[in-house]
Amino acid sequence: AGVVVGVDIGGTKVLAGVVDAGGRVTSTARRTTPGRRVVASQVEDALVEAILESAGGRHLAGVGVAAAGFVDSAGERVMFAPHLPWQGEPLRDLLEDRLGCPVLLDNDANCAARAEAHHGAARGAASALMITMGTGIGGAVLLDGHVLRGANGMAGEFGHMQVVPGGRSCECGRSGCWEQYSSGNALVRDARALMADQPSVLTDMSDGHPDRVTGPMVTTAAEAGDLVARAAFASVGDWLGVGTANLVAALDPEVVVIGGVSAAGDRLLDPARTSLQRTLVGVGHRAVPRLVAAELGPEAGMVGAALLVGGDGTRTAAP
Ligand code: BGC
Ligand code: NA
Ligand code: ZN
Repeated sequence: AGVVVGVDIGGTKVLAGVVDAGGRVTSTARRTTPGRRVVASQVEDALVEAILESAGGRHLAGVGVAAAGFVDSAGERVMFAPHLPWQGEPLRDLLEDRLGCPVLLDNDANCAARAEAHHGAARGAASALMITMGTGIGGAVLLDGHVLRGANGMAGEFGHMQVVPGGRSCECGRSGCWEQYSSGNALVRDARALMADQPSVLTDMSDGHPDRVTGPMVTTAAEAGDLVARAAFASVGDWLGVGTANLVAALDPEVVVIGGVSAAGDRLLDPARTSLQRTLVGVGHRAVPRLVAAELGPEAGMVGAALLVGGDGTRTAAP
C-alpha cells in the first residue's frame, strides 16, 4: 500500500499533494521553484522536499511528476524547459533513486488535461484543448480523453507558436512566442510597462519599484478597480483569445479548458471569448467552442500527475 503523490513543478512554484483513488487531494506542500539559473539538482531538492512533506512520513507507493517542459516519449527525461535548468535531465531515474519508489513523468499541461478529462471540465468531451496560464503557456490536445503525444512526445507546446514576427524575446531562445503576450509573466510585464506612464495603485504596492510587481499584486489591483491592472488583464485576455482562435482553426475542439486562472477567472476569459469570436475563421457558420476555466483550478497538474500512477505504483494504462 502507501500513498500516491502528484507533484507539479512550474517556473515559479512546486505543488505536491497526496491524491486518493477518487482524485481527491488530502494533503499538500509547496516550495518556491529555485529558478532557471541554478544547478538542476537544486530544483530536484525542492521537488523531493515538497513530495516528502506532503506524504508526511507515509510510505510512497508511487509519485507522478508534472513538469513544465518537454518530456521525451518514454517519460524518462526532460529534454528542454524554457523556465527550468533542465536539458536532457534524466528526472525519472534521479527521483526514483532519491525517493525509492516508482516515478512517472509527463509535461505539466498534459497532466492538467488528463485531470480535467477524468474529473473536470473536459469530462465526456470527444475533443478538447487544455491551455494552462502560468509562467508560460502550456498546452495539450485531448482526443476521447487521451493526450495527443506527437512524434517526440512534445505535441501541444502552444506557448511557443510565433504570434508576432520579430516580437518580444522568449525564454525558449526565440522571439514573438504566444506566451510572451498571454501568460502570468506577460501580465506582470504589461502592468509594469503601463504603470510607467499612468497612475496606479501598483506603484504603492511595489514601493515604487515596478520590478517588484507580481502576478498576485496585479490581480488584487484589478479587483480594486485599478485601470493599469485592468488594462493588463484585458491585453493578456485578448491575446489568449487570438491564440485560441488559431488552435481552434486547426483542431476544431468541442471545448477549450483554461488552467491557472482561478483567481482571475473571467477577467481573462471574458476578453478571450470576445477576441475568439472576433478572430476565429468561419464564425456564423460554425459552433464556437466553449471557453471555460479548469474545474480543478491550480490543482489540475498535480492531480493529473498522480493519475499517471496506478494503485500499485505502476504506470496506469495509457490515460
Ligand atoms: C513550456 C511548456 C510548459 C509551459 C507551462 C512553457 O514555456 O514550454 O512545456 O508546459 O511553459 O508551464
Ligand atoms: Na503539453
Ligand atoms: Zn518561446
